[in-house]
Amino acid sequence: MRDNKKEIQALFDDLLINVTRFFRDEAVFRALKKRFLPTLLKNKRKDRQPELRAWVPGCASGEEVYSLAICILETLGRKPSKMRIQIFGTDLSESVIEHARLGIYSNAIEKDVSPARLKRFFVKRDSTYQIHRNVRDICTFARQNITADPPFSRLDLISCRNVLIYLSPELHKRCIPQFHYALTAGGYLILGPAESVGLYDELFKLVDKKNKIYAKAAVTTPRTADLIPQRGLELSHFGTRSTVGAGAHLGGDLLKVADRIMLSAYAPAAVVIDQDMHVQQFRGRTDLFLEHTPGPATFNLVQLARPTLAADLRATIHRAIKTDKPARKERAKVKLSGRSNEINIQAVPFRIPASDKSWLLVIFDETTKATKPEKLPRALGKTATEREVGELRRELAAAKESLQAIIEEQEATNEELKSSNEEIESSNEELQSTNEELETAKEELQSTNEELTTLNEELSNRNLEMMQLTGELNNLLASIQMPIVMVDNALTVRRATPAARTAFNILPTDIGRPLTELRPNIDVPDLENVLREVIETLGTRERKVTDQTGRKYSLRVRPYRTTDNKIDGAVLTLIDIDGDSDRGSSKKRKRGAREKQEVTTE
Ligand SMILES: C[S@@+](CC[C@H](N)C(=O)[O-])C[C@H]1O[C@@H](n2cnc3c(N)ncnc32)[C@H](O)[C@@H]1O
Repeated sequence: MRDNKKEIQALFDDLLINVTRFFRDEAVFRALKKRFLPTLLKNKRKDRQPELRAWVPGCASGEEVYSLAICILETLGRKPSKMRIQIFGTDLSESVIEHARLGIYSNAIEKDVSPARLKRFFVKRDSTYQIHRNVRDICTFARQNITADPPFSRLDLISCRNVLIYLSPELHKRCIPQFHYALTAGGYLILGPAESVGLYDELFKLVDKKNKIYAKAAVTTPRTADLIPQRGLELSHFGTRSTVGAGAHLGGDLLKVADRIMLSAYAPAAVVIDQDMHVQQFRGRTDLFLEHTPGPATFNLVQLARPTLAADLRATIHRAIKTDKPARKERAKVKLSGRSNEINIQAVPFRIPASDKSWLLVIFDETTKATKPEKLPRALGKTATEREVGELRRELAAAKESLQAIIEEQEATNEELKSSNEEIESSNEELQSTNEELETAKEELQSTNEELTTLNEELSNRNLEMMQLTGELNNLLASIQMPIVMVDNALTVRRATPAARTAFNILPTDIGRPLTELRPNIDVPDLENVLREVIETLGTRERKVTDQTGRKYSLRVRPYRTTDNKIDGAVLTLIDIDGDSDRGSSKKRKRGAREKQEVTTE
């Protein structure tokens, strides 16, 4: 089911109740023909290019649209007329729209449509009737969702019968103001027998209670769920031929182009601006109201607006921004090709979910007709001067409002500048204190640096001294004929005099090796024990030892004391005691010789 688009569409269509018939509630159509359409058409006839526009949202298979078309054509009469009739029929269901567009109905309609109407407005084909081409030509059908898509505009009539009953009160809140927005002044809204405008009775006046016909009240449309499309105007189904066959595979592109054409044909000109009045998007034919003036390029709407519109435009936008509600200016003056025209300006603030910025849709509504100034209020019996004064007063009021808006804008800018200035000042103070801290830190670093330099000098002096001392020590050790060895606590050789190298068999590479690992030329089997004993007991040990040639030595082991009086190993000294006995006998020998000499002299 999920993968079967056709089945899903069929289920969707089944859920929508498409029950309808021709001239459903005949009294409504009678009232329209008798009371409302004649006045509407009469008023329209005064226009230079008269056009009557109607919309039937939720039109199902089109019977209501064609019933309305028939009523209008009957009211117009058989005489040729300049009046352009345009009726839009829209529905959520695609299949019923296809049916409406074809306009083919079974002969069961005979019970609802009179034989005269069948004859005039239908073509009989076997057991079916097709709406006559002339009637079909004035009816345009499209798929449209009244709860999500934007409405049509500049309408004289909206017939939304038996649709609202299927929608929740929440959705009514979107639809009713939308209908108010879409109707021109003096337009009518027709609802079904069980429906009403509900809470929005200030927007519409009930003019036919029995038939639920409402007249648009001259009040500003409230801001409701945006009139901006939530997913674009889906008008791809205008004209069956456009989406079936060759165009079907073009999908989205076709839809977008069709949307654009529809919007440019039926939607009023508008621009989307940001809070700074910069145009972000142009919609429809805005060239009538905006122009580029020589000088640097700008997207500022007020600068782009035709000079006569600028004041009203600025004031309306400013009001909308200030109140965060739609603002409207009726009968704003604009000069087009030398003629004075009046238009309505509407500024609608809105937000989009993806951004927290606020935007405005500024709509230029041409509903007010072009008027030649001299023709204007003659009916009111005013003199030309009075008219001029009135006109100037109006312009002055608009200029005042615009000036006020500029002053407020200026004040707001000033406030912003003030607060920015305060922020800058406080940042400046913070920077200053940081600077002071940095200065102190710098001074501290400088003195530390000086101390380090002194220390460095001391160390290099010490180093020199040490080098000198080491040199002296090395020389001393080298000149001593006595074998001396220094070991640390781990009994590794630290230093040895050249004479010790022979006695203890120490090579220069043996410095750093344990003495006990070397094989000394003297015979000391318990050398390790002696060394440990000395280090532990801090006492001096002495013993007689002989080398491999039988020469006798006295081995003296003393603890090694550091300058701070710690024991850090031991010092071994080897004294040749064989040489001592030789020296003793030569002394004896010298003494004997002397004694002999003394005896001889006596
Ligand atoms: C009972 S029919 C009414 C037909 C006709 N207006 C009449 O009174 O005879 C209701 C129609 O409203 C359509 N509908 C329901 N919700 C809609 C919506 N949100 N937008 C447009 N049409 C809708 C349905 O598809 C259905 O065709």
